Amino acid sequence: MIKILFVCLGNICRSPMAEFILKDLVRRRGIADEFTIASCATSDEELGNPVYPPARRMLAGHGIDCSGKRARQMVRGDYEQFDLLFGMENRNVRRMRAICGGDPEGKIARLLDGTARPRDIADPWYTGDFQQAWDDIYEGCQALLERLGYGGEQ
Ligand code: 4NP
Repeated sequence: MIKILFVCLGNICRSPMAEFILKDLVRRRGIADEFTIASCATSDEELGNPVYPPARRMLAGHGIDCSGKRARQMVRGDYEQFDLLFGMENRNVRRMRAICGGDPEGKIARLLDGTARPRDIADPWYTGDFQQAWDDIYEGCQALLERLGYGGEQ
């Protein structure tokens, strides 16, 4: 069992997109039972709120349902609960390390650090570009599965 936590600032755009994209990828590969996948926020701005409608529509356009998801804030105990914790941008990673009291086991990274072009995923809450967020997050999730040994299949 691999436990993966995606983290962004609000937990209503990027990290829930990552959560539900990866859940869909592992379901389609028939390996969902091998994963626990969740997402949360570094801030308390959106606590309890559903996925932001443009992000929800982007997921729905790919046949992915995220109803029921509500934003929650990261807590220190998440560090022990999860094996891999991915921020969307450096700002998230810095905040995650502060919440967790550091990263002694080297579990925290940016989602796109494991790709050929390591970079931040811009916040669509500010850019309005949910297609770019989708493309970046999808690339990161595919690369993650490859690194974990599940590459190749669709
Ligand atoms: P996210 O986007 O971090 O991708 O969920 C944001 C959503 C809401 C806020 C900031 C970022 N906010 O400040 O409310």
